[in-house]
Amino acid sequence: MRIIRMLMKKYHYMYLNLIGVRVIQVFVVIQVQMAVNNADDDFCSEPPQTHPQSLTPNNHMTPEKAWAHWTSLGSPKLIVAPMVDNSELPFRLLCRKYGATAAYTPMLHSRIFTENEKYRSQEFTTCQEDRPLFVQFCANDPDTLLEAARRVEDYCDYVDINLGCPQRIAKRGNYGAFLMDKLPLVKSLVEKLAQNLNVPVSCKIRLFPDLEDTLKYAKMLQDAGCALLAVHGRTRDEKDGKKIRANWKAIRAVKNALQIPVLANGNIRHMDDVKQCLEETGADGVLSAETLLENPALFAGFRTVEWVSDSEDGNQDGKLDQAELALEYLKLCEKYPVPWRMIRAHLHKMLGEWFRIHPHVRDDFNSQHILSFEFLYDMVNRLRDLGVSRPLYVKNTCLDDMSPNRV
Ligand SMILES: Cc1cc2nc3c(=O)[nH]c(=O)nc-3n(C[C@H](O)[C@H](O)[C@H](O)COP(=O)(O)O)c2cc1C
Repeated sequence: MRIIRMLMKKYHYMYLNLIGVRVIQVFVVIQVQMAVNNADDDFCSEPPQTHPQSLTPNNHMTPEKAWAHWTSLGSPKLIVAPMVDNSELPFRLLCRKYGATAAYTPMLHSRIFTENEKYRSQEFTTCQEDRPLFVQFCANDPDTLLEAARRVEDYCDYVDINLGCPQRIAKRGNYGAFLMDKLPLVKSLVEKLAQNLNVPVSCKIRLFPDLEDTLKYAKMLQDAGCALLAVHGRTRDEKDGKKIRANWKAIRAVKNALQIPVLANGNIRHMDDVKQCLEETGADGVLSAETLLENPALFAGFRTVEWVSDSEDGNQDGKLDQAELALEYLKLCEKYPVPWRMIRAHLHKMLGEWFRIHPHVRDDFNSQHILSFEFLYDMVNRLRDLGVSRPLYVKNTCLDDMSPNRV
Protein backbone atom coordinates (compact mmCIF):
# COMPACT_ATOMS: atom_id res chain seq x y z
CA MET A 1 0.00 0.00 0.00
CA ARG A 2 2.90 2.37 0.74
CA ILE A 3 4.24 1.88 -2.80
CA ILE A 4 0.79 2.62 -4.19
CA ARG A 5 0.45 5.83 -2.17
CA MET A 6 3.92 7.00 -3.26
CA LEU A 7 3.15 6.25 -6.89
CA MET A 8 -0.17 8.04 -6.66
CA LYS A 9 1.56 11.17 -5.36
CA LYS A 10 4.33 11.03 -7.94
CA TYR A 11 2.14 10.43 -10.96
CA HIS A 12 -0.53 12.77 -9.75
CA TYR A 13 1.79 15.76 -9.79
CA MET A 14 3.51 14.80 -13.02
CA TYR A 15 0.30 14.48 -14.99
CA LEU A 16 -1.30 17.50 -13.37
CA ASN A 17 0.88 19.75 -15.47
CA LEU A 18 0.17 17.88 -18.64
CA ILE A 19 -3.45 17.00 -19.02
CA GLY A 20 -6.97 17.62 -17.70
CA VAL A 21 -8.27 16.33 -14.41
CA ARG A 22 -10.28 13.41 -15.81
CA VAL A 23 -7.34 12.10 -17.82
CA ILE A 24 -5.20 12.22 -14.69
CA GLN A 25 -7.72 10.16 -12.82
CA VAL A 26 -7.72 7.42 -15.46
CA PHE A 27 -3.92 7.36 -15.78
CA VAL A 28 -3.37 7.25 -12.04
CA VAL A 29 -5.70 4.29 -11.76
CA ILE A 30 -3.95 2.48 -14.62
CA GLN A 31 -0.49 3.24 -13.22
CA VAL A 32 -1.50 2.12 -9.80
CA GLN A 33 -2.93 -1.05 -11.24
CA MET A 34 0.25 -1.65 -13.23
CA ALA A 35 2.35 -1.10 -10.12
CA VAL A 36 0.20 -3.48 -8.17
CA ASN A 37 0.25 -5.98 -11.03
CA ASN A 38 4.01 -5.85 -11.14
CA ALA A 39 4.29 -6.13 -7.39
CA ASP A 40 1.98 -9.03 -6.76
CA ASP A 41 -0.02 -9.63 -9.93
CA ASP A 42 -3.07 -8.00 -8.39
CA PHE A 43 -6.05 -6.35 -10.11
CA CYS A 44 -7.62 -4.40 -7.33
CA SER A 45 -6.38 -2.24 -4.54
CA GLU A 46 -7.90 -4.48 -1.89
CA PRO A 47 -6.24 -7.74 -0.87
CA PRO A 48 -7.85 -10.69 -2.63
CA GLN A 49 -10.28 -12.90 -0.77
CA THR A 50 -9.02 -16.42 -0.49
CA HIS A 51 -11.92 -18.73 -0.87
CA PRO A 52 -12.36 -21.45 1.74
CA GLN A 53 -13.39 -23.92 -0.96
CA SER A 54 -10.47 -23.25 -3.29
CA LEU A 55 -9.10 -26.39 -4.90
CA THR A 56 -5.64 -27.78 -4.89
CA PRO A 57 -4.35 -28.05 -8.44
CA ASN A 58 -4.46 -31.52 -10.00
CA ASN A 59 -7.42 -32.44 -7.82
CA HIS A 60 -10.00 -34.13 -9.96
CA MET A 61 -13.28 -32.18 -10.04
CA THR A 62 -16.19 -34.28 -8.83
CA PRO A 63 -19.89 -33.39 -8.64
CA GLU A 64 -19.57 -33.35 -4.82
CA LYS A 65 -16.78 -30.78 -4.99
CA ALA A 66 -18.67 -28.79 -7.62
CA TRP A 67 -21.71 -28.60 -5.32
CA ALA A 68 -19.62 -27.83 -2.23
CA HIS A 69 -18.11 -24.85 -4.05
CA TRP A 70 -21.46 -23.62 -5.36
CA THR A 71 -23.05 -23.92 -1.93
CA SER A 72 -20.12 -22.14 -0.27
CA LEU A 73 -20.89 -19.16 -2.52
CA GLY A 74 -24.48 -19.08 -1.22
CA SER A 75 -25.95 -20.88 -4.28
CA PRO A 76 -26.47 -17.61 -6.17
CA LYS A 77 -29.50 -17.76 -8.46
CA LEU A 78 -29.79 -14.30 -10.00
CA ILE A 79 -26.82 -13.72 -12.23
CA VAL A 80 -25.54 -10.98 -14.55
CA ALA A 81 -24.62 -12.71 -17.85
CA PRO A 82 -21.29 -12.05 -19.56
CA MET A 83 -21.54 -9.12 -21.98
CA VAL A 84 -18.63 -7.72 -23.99
CA ASP A 85 -18.21 -4.03 -23.15
CA ASN A 86 -21.31 -4.18 -20.93
CA SER A 87 -20.84 -6.38 -17.84
CA GLU A 88 -17.91 -4.31 -16.57
CA LEU A 89 -17.30 -3.56 -12.90
CA PRO A 90 -19.56 -0.48 -12.35
CA PHE A 91 -22.46 -2.19 -14.13
CA ARG A 92 -21.95 -5.40 -12.15
CA LEU A 93 -21.94 -3.41 -8.91
CA LEU A 94 -25.14 -1.62 -9.89
CA CYS A 95 -26.88 -4.92 -10.67
CA ARG A 96 -25.59 -6.43 -7.41
CA LYS A 97 -27.05 -3.50 -5.49
CA TYR A 98 -30.39 -4.34 -7.12
CA GLY A 99 -30.56 -8.03 -6.41
CA ALA A 100 -28.01 -9.82 -8.61
CA THR A 101 -26.29 -12.45 -6.48
CA ALA A 102 -23.40 -13.20 -8.86
CA ALA A 103 -21.97 -11.81 -12.10
CA TYR A 104 -19.77 -12.61 -15.09
CA THR A 105 -17.14 -10.28 -16.50
CA PRO A 106 -17.32 -9.50 -20.20
CA MET A 107 -15.53 -12.08 -22.35
CA LEU A 108 -11.79 -11.46 -22.25
CA HIS A 109 -9.54 -12.61 -25.07
CA SER A 110 -7.07 -15.03 -23.47
CA ARG A 111 -4.20 -14.42 -25.86
CA ILE A 112 -4.42 -10.65 -25.71
CA PHE A 113 -4.84 -10.89 -21.94
CA THR A 114 -1.54 -12.73 -21.60
CA GLU A 115 0.31 -10.39 -23.95
CA ASN A 116 -0.99 -6.91 -23.27
CA GLU A 117 -0.83 -5.19 -19.92
CA LYS A 118 -2.95 -2.25 -21.04
CA TYR A 119 -5.71 -4.62 -22.14
CA ARG A 120 -5.56 -6.39 -18.78
CA SER A 121 -5.77 -3.26 -16.68
CA GLN A 122 -8.53 -1.67 -18.78
CA GLU A 123 -10.72 -4.66 -19.47
CA PHE A 124 -10.54 -6.46 -16.14
CA THR A 125 -11.10 -4.52 -12.95
CA THR A 126 -12.70 -5.78 -9.78
CA CYS A 127 -13.02 -4.99 -6.10
CA GLN A 128 -13.89 -6.77 -2.89
CA GLU A 129 -17.66 -6.36 -3.21
CA ASP A 130 -17.54 -7.85 -6.71
CA ARG A 131 -18.07 -11.50 -5.62
CA PRO A 132 -19.13 -14.15 -6.45
CA LEU A 133 -17.48 -13.48 -9.80
CA PHE A 134 -17.06 -15.51 -12.99
CA VAL A 135 -14.19 -14.32 -15.19
CA GLN A 136 -14.87 -15.35 -18.76
CA PHE A 137 -12.28 -16.01 -21.46
CA CYS A 138 -12.44 -17.03 -25.07
CA ALA A 139 -9.63 -19.32 -26.14
CA ASN A 140 -8.45 -21.93 -28.58
CA ASP A 141 -5.13 -22.83 -27.02
CA PRO A 142 -5.00 -24.63 -23.64
CA ASP A 143 -1.60 -23.23 -22.55
CA THR A 144 -2.54 -19.66 -23.38
CA LEU A 145 -5.87 -20.06 -21.62
CA LEU A 146 -4.16 -21.40 -18.51
CA GLU A 147 -1.67 -18.52 -18.51
CA ALA A 148 -4.52 -16.00 -18.74
CA ALA A 149 -6.60 -17.80 -16.12
CA ARG A 150 -3.74 -17.91 -13.62
CA ARG A 151 -3.62 -14.13 -13.64
CA VAL A 152 -7.21 -13.84 -12.43
CA GLU A 153 -7.81 -16.95 -10.35
CA ASP A 154 -7.22 -15.18 -7.03
CA TYR A 155 -9.92 -12.62 -7.81
CA CYS A 156 -12.80 -14.80 -8.88
CA ASP A 157 -14.87 -17.83 -8.00
CA TYR A 158 -14.93 -19.47 -11.43
CA VAL A 159 -12.86 -19.12 -14.57
CA ASP A 160 -15.38 -19.47 -17.36
CA ILE A 161 -14.82 -20.55 -20.97
CA ASN A 162 -16.97 -18.89 -23.62
CA LEU A 163 -18.22 -21.67 -25.87
CA GLY A 164 -21.31 -19.81 -27.03
CA CYS A 165 -20.33 -16.67 -28.96
CA PRO A 166 -21.95 -17.00 -32.41
CA GLN A 167 -20.61 -13.76 -33.94
CA ARG A 168 -18.52 -13.51 -37.08
CA ILE A 169 -15.56 -12.31 -35.05
CA ALA A 170 -15.63 -15.61 -33.12
CA LYS A 171 -15.70 -17.57 -36.38
CA ARG A 172 -12.66 -15.65 -37.63
CA GLY A 173 -10.91 -15.98 -34.28
CA ASN A 174 -11.80 -19.67 -33.92
CA TYR A 175 -13.47 -19.47 -30.53
CA GLY A 176 -16.89 -19.34 -28.87
CA ALA A 177 -19.66 -21.38 -30.50
CA PHE A 178 -17.38 -22.28 -33.43
CA LEU A 179 -15.51 -24.66 -31.14
CA MET A 180 -18.68 -26.81 -31.23
CA ASP A 181 -17.11 -28.18 -34.43
CA LYS A 182 -13.89 -29.02 -32.54
CA LEU A 183 -14.91 -30.92 -29.44
CA PRO A 184 -11.50 -32.53 -28.76
CA LEU A 185 -10.05 -29.01 -28.51
CA VAL A 186 -12.86 -27.96 -26.15
CA LYS A 187 -12.13 -30.99 -23.98
CA SER A 188 -8.44 -30.10 -23.79
CA LEU A 189 -9.24 -26.49 -22.81
CA VAL A 190 -11.46 -27.60 -19.93
CA GLU A 191 -9.06 -30.32 -18.78
CA LYS A 192 -6.10 -27.97 -18.81
CA LEU A 193 -7.81 -25.51 -16.50
CA ALA A 194 -9.47 -28.11 -14.29
CA GLN A 195 -6.18 -29.87 -13.65
CA ASN A 196 -4.09 -26.78 -13.01
CA LEU A 197 -6.16 -23.99 -11.50
CA ASN A 198 -7.02 -23.24 -7.89
CA VAL A 199 -10.58 -22.23 -8.74
CA PRO A 200 -13.22 -24.31 -10.52
CA VAL A 201 -13.85 -24.04 -14.25
CA SER A 202 -17.25 -23.24 -15.69
CA CYS A 203 -18.44 -23.19 -19.30
CA LYS A 204 -21.17 -21.31 -21.13
CA ILE A 205 -22.62 -23.14 -24.12
CA ARG A 206 -25.33 -22.94 -26.75
CA LEU A 207 -27.49 -25.84 -27.92
CA PHE A 208 -26.81 -28.13 -30.84
CA PRO A 209 -29.85 -28.43 -33.15
CA ASP A 210 -30.09 -32.06 -32.01
CA LEU A 211 -30.81 -32.59 -28.30
CA GLU A 212 -28.76 -35.81 -28.09
CA ASP A 213 -25.70 -33.95 -29.39
CA THR A 214 -26.25 -31.28 -26.75
CA LEU A 215 -26.47 -33.86 -23.98
CA LYS A 216 -23.31 -35.66 -25.15
CA TYR A 217 -21.54 -32.31 -25.29
CA ALA A 218 -22.65 -31.32 -21.79
CA LYS A 219 -21.57 -34.69 -20.34
CA MET A 220 -18.20 -34.44 -22.06
CA LEU A 221 -17.67 -31.03 -20.41
CA GLN A 222 -18.61 -32.40 -16.99
CA ASP A 223 -16.27 -35.39 -17.43
CA ALA A 224 -13.45 -33.05 -18.48
CA GLY A 225 -13.71 -31.22 -15.13
CA CYS A 226 -16.26 -28.46 -15.73
CA ALA A 227 -17.80 -27.60 -12.32
CA LEU A 228 -20.76 -25.52 -13.52
CA LEU A 229 -22.49 -25.22 -16.87
CA ALA A 230 -24.49 -22.23 -18.10
CA VAL A 231 -26.76 -23.13 -21.00
CA HIS A 232 -28.01 -20.47 -23.39
CA GLY A 233 -31.14 -22.12 -24.75
CA ARG A 234 -30.56 -21.19 -28.39
CA THR A 235 -28.47 -22.72 -31.17
CA ARG A 236 -25.48 -21.07 -32.82
CA ASP A 237 -27.67 -19.95 -35.73
CA GLU A 238 -30.41 -18.53 -33.51
CA LYS A 239 -28.76 -15.18 -33.04
CA ASP A 240 -31.71 -12.87 -32.53
CA GLY A 241 -32.63 -13.28 -28.89
CA LYS A 242 -35.51 -10.79 -29.16
CA LYS A 243 -37.25 -12.81 -31.89
CA ILE A 244 -36.35 -16.41 -31.03
CA ARG A 245 -37.47 -17.82 -27.70
CA ALA A 246 -34.92 -19.78 -25.71
CA ASN A 247 -35.60 -23.50 -25.49
CA TRP A 248 -36.11 -24.12 -21.77
CA LYS A 249 -37.06 -27.77 -22.38
CA ALA A 250 -33.59 -28.47 -23.74
CA ILE A 251 -32.08 -26.77 -20.67
CA ARG A 252 -34.22 -29.03 -18.48
CA ALA A 253 -32.84 -32.07 -20.34
CA VAL A 254 -29.27 -30.88 -19.76
CA LYS A 255 -29.99 -30.27 -16.09
CA ASN A 256 -31.42 -33.78 -15.76
CA ALA A 257 -28.44 -35.34 -17.51
CA LEU A 258 -25.72 -33.66 -15.41
CA GLN A 259 -24.65 -33.89 -11.78
CA ILE A 260 -23.03 -30.43 -11.53
CA PRO A 261 -24.89 -27.08 -11.07
CA VAL A 262 -26.58 -25.87 -14.27
CA LEU A 263 -27.65 -22.29 -15.03
CA ALA A 264 -30.36 -21.32 -17.52
CA ASN A 265 -29.98 -18.43 -19.94
CA GLY A 266 -32.46 -16.84 -22.34
CA ASN A 267 -35.75 -14.95 -22.04
CA ILE A 268 -35.36 -13.61 -18.53
CA ARG A 269 -37.13 -10.24 -18.65
CA HIS A 270 -38.65 -9.91 -15.18
CA MET A 271 -39.00 -11.90 -11.98
CA ASP A 272 -42.01 -13.89 -13.21
CA ASP A 273 -39.73 -15.23 -15.96
CA VAL A 274 -37.12 -16.12 -13.33
CA LYS A 275 -39.67 -18.08 -11.32
CA GLN A 276 -41.09 -19.84 -14.37
CA CYS A 277 -37.66 -20.61 -15.81
CA LEU A 278 -36.40 -22.13 -12.54
CA GLU A 279 -39.57 -24.24 -12.34
CA GLU A 280 -39.53 -25.37 -15.98
CA THR A 281 -35.82 -26.06 -16.30
CA GLY A 282 -35.01 -27.17 -12.75
CA ALA A 283 -31.86 -25.04 -13.18
CA ASP A 284 -29.87 -23.83 -10.20
CA GLY A 285 -29.92 -20.20 -11.29
CA VAL A 286 -30.59 -17.90 -14.22
CA LEU A 287 -28.51 -15.50 -16.28
CA SER A 288 -29.96 -12.35 -17.80
CA ALA A 289 -28.28 -10.09 -20.37
CA GLU A 290 -30.30 -7.83 -22.72
CA THR A 291 -33.03 -6.94 -20.25
CA LEU A 292 -30.58 -6.05 -17.49
CA LEU A 293 -29.00 -3.50 -19.80
CA GLU A 294 -32.31 -1.63 -19.97
CA ASN A 295 -33.28 -2.37 -16.40
CA PRO A 296 -30.38 -3.16 -14.05
CA ALA A 297 -32.92 -3.43 -11.18
CA LEU A 298 -34.65 -6.48 -12.71
CA PHE A 299 -33.47 -8.88 -10.00
CA ALA A 300 -34.83 -6.64 -7.23
CA GLY A 301 -38.30 -7.12 -8.71
CA PHE A 302 -38.51 -3.97 -10.89
CA ARG A 303 -39.88 -4.15 -14.43
CA THR A 304 -40.33 -1.73 -17.30
CA VAL A 305 -43.85 -0.73 -18.35
CA GLU A 306 -43.51 -3.11 -21.32
CA TRP A 307 -43.96 -6.03 -18.88
CA VAL A 308 -46.85 -4.58 -16.91
CA SER A 309 -50.22 -5.84 -17.97
CA ASP A 310 -53.41 -3.96 -17.08
CA SER A 311 -55.26 -7.19 -16.44
CA GLU A 312 -52.79 -8.26 -13.78
CA ASP A 313 -52.99 -7.24 -10.13
CA GLY A 314 -50.06 -6.37 -7.94
CA ASN A 315 -47.98 -4.01 -10.13
CA GLN A 316 -47.12 -0.75 -8.40
CA ASP A 317 -45.01 2.30 -9.18
CA GLY A 318 -41.64 1.22 -7.72
CA LYS A 319 -40.55 4.83 -7.00
CA LEU A 320 -37.45 4.20 -9.09
CA ASP A 321 -36.72 5.02 -12.70
CA GLN A 322 -33.97 4.49 -15.26
CA ALA A 323 -32.69 8.05 -14.84
CA GLU A 324 -32.02 7.32 -11.17
CA LEU A 325 -30.24 4.09 -12.14
CA ALA A 326 -28.21 5.97 -14.77
CA LEU A 327 -27.08 8.49 -12.13
CA GLU A 328 -26.09 5.68 -9.77
CA TYR A 329 -24.18 4.03 -12.61
CA LEU A 330 -22.31 7.26 -13.38
CA LYS A 331 -21.26 7.60 -9.74
CA LEU A 332 -19.88 4.05 -9.83
CA CYS A 333 -17.97 4.89 -13.03
CA GLU A 334 -16.38 7.87 -11.31
CA LYS A 335 -15.21 5.57 -8.54
CA TYR A 336 -14.16 2.69 -10.82
CA PRO A 337 -13.12 4.21 -14.17
CA VAL A 338 -13.97 2.37 -17.39
CA PRO A 339 -13.60 3.33 -21.07
CA TRP A 340 -16.13 5.97 -22.21
CA ARG A 341 -17.46 3.66 -24.91
CA MET A 342 -18.92 1.43 -22.17
CA ILE A 343 -20.55 4.37 -20.39
CA ARG A 344 -22.00 5.60 -23.68
CA ALA A 345 -23.46 2.19 -24.48
CA HIS A 346 -25.07 1.83 -21.04
CA LEU A 347 -26.68 5.26 -21.15
CA HIS A 348 -28.18 4.52 -24.55
CA LYS A 349 -29.67 1.28 -23.21
CA MET A 350 -30.91 2.62 -19.86
CA LEU A 351 -32.29 5.86 -21.29
CA GLY A 352 -33.44 4.52 -24.67
CA GLU A 353 -37.12 5.12 -23.96
CA TRP A 354 -36.43 8.58 -22.61
CA PHE A 355 -34.43 9.48 -25.73
CA ARG A 356 -37.30 8.30 -27.93
CA ILE A 357 -39.50 10.91 -26.30
CA HIS A 358 -36.84 13.63 -26.56
CA PRO A 359 -34.65 12.73 -29.56
CA HIS A 360 -32.93 16.12 -29.54
CA VAL A 361 -31.28 15.19 -26.21
CA ARG A 362 -30.00 11.97 -27.78
CA ASP A 363 -28.73 13.90 -30.83
CA ASP A 364 -26.88 16.22 -28.51
CA PHE A 365 -25.38 13.20 -26.68
CA ASN A 366 -24.33 11.54 -29.95
CA SER A 367 -22.66 14.69 -31.17
CA GLN A 368 -20.37 14.84 -28.11
CA HIS A 369 -17.24 13.07 -29.24
CA ILE A 370 -15.52 13.78 -25.95
CA LEU A 371 -17.63 13.06 -22.90
CA SER A 372 -17.36 14.33 -19.35
CA PHE A 373 -19.25 13.35 -16.22
CA GLU A 374 -20.48 16.93 -15.92
CA PHE A 375 -22.09 16.69 -19.35
CA LEU A 376 -23.65 13.31 -18.57
CA TYR A 377 -25.13 14.30 -15.20
CA ASP A 378 -26.56 17.43 -16.86
CA MET A 379 -28.04 15.34 -19.66
CA VAL A 380 -29.86 13.00 -17.28
CA ASN A 381 -31.16 15.93 -15.24
CA ARG A 382 -32.25 17.67 -18.44
CA LEU A 383 -34.35 14.65 -19.40
CA ARG A 384 -35.96 14.78 -15.98
CA ASP A 385 -36.59 18.51 -16.22
CA LEU A 386 -38.33 17.90 -19.54
CA GLY A 387 -40.95 16.11 -17.50
CA VAL A 388 -40.49 12.56 -18.76
CA SER A 389 -41.94 10.11 -16.33
CA ARG A 390 -41.25 6.45 -16.94
CA PRO A 391 -41.34 4.69 -13.60
CA LEU A 392 -40.20 1.14 -13.11
CA TYR A 393 -42.92 -1.03 -11.59
CA VAL A 394 -42.62 -3.61 -8.85
CA LYS A 395 -44.50 -6.79 -8.56
CA ASN A 396 -44.07 -9.08 -5.65
CA THR A 397 -43.01 -12.35 -7.24
CA CYS A 398 -42.38 -14.88 -4.53
CA LEU A 399 -39.22 -16.91 -5.02
CA ASP A 400 -38.92 -17.87 -1.37
CA ASP A 401 -38.85 -21.60 -1.81
CA MET A 402 -36.25 -21.51 -4.56
CA SER A 403 -33.99 -18.59 -3.75
CA PRO A 404 -32.49 -18.75 -0.27
CA ASN A 405 -30.07 -15.88 -0.77
CA ARG A 406 -32.33 -13.42 -2.56
CA VAL A 407 -31.65 -9.89 -1.31
C1 LIG B 1 -24.20 -6.67 -25.45
C2 LIG B 1 -24.04 -8.15 -25.28
C3 LIG B 1 -22.77 -8.68 -25.14
C4 LIG B 1 -22.60 -10.05 -24.94
N1 LIG B 1 -21.36 -10.55 -24.70
C5 LIG B 1 -21.21 -11.86 -24.34
C6 LIG B 1 -19.97 -12.35 -23.86
O1 LIG B 1 -19.00 -11.62 -23.71
N2 LIG B 1 -19.89 -13.68 -23.54
C7 LIG B 1 -20.96 -14.52 -23.63
O2 LIG B 1 -20.83 -15.71 -23.31
N3 LIG B 1 -22.15 -14.06 -24.05
C8 LIG B 1 -22.30 -12.76 -24.38
N4 LIG B 1 -23.53 -12.27 -24.72
C9 LIG B 1 -24.69 -13.20 -24.70
C10 LIG B 1 -25.39 -13.13 -23.34
O3 LIG B 1 -24.51 -13.49 -22.29
C11 LIG B 1 -26.61 -14.05 -23.33
O4 LIG B 1 -26.16 -15.37 -23.51
C12 LIG B 1 -27.62 -13.73 -24.41
O5 LIG B 1 -27.81 -12.34 -24.58
C13 LIG B 1 -28.98 -14.37 -24.06
O6 LIG B 1 -29.47 -13.86 -22.84
P1 LIG B 1 -30.70 -12.83 -22.79
O7 LIG B 1 -31.85 -13.50 -23.49
O8 LIG B 1 -30.96 -12.58 -21.34
O9 LIG B 1 -30.26 -11.59 -23.52
C14 LIG B 1 -23.72 -10.92 -24.93
C15 LIG B 1 -25.00 -10.36 -25.11
C16 LIG B 1 -25.17 -9.01 -25.25
C17 LIG B 1 -26.55 -8.44 -25.40
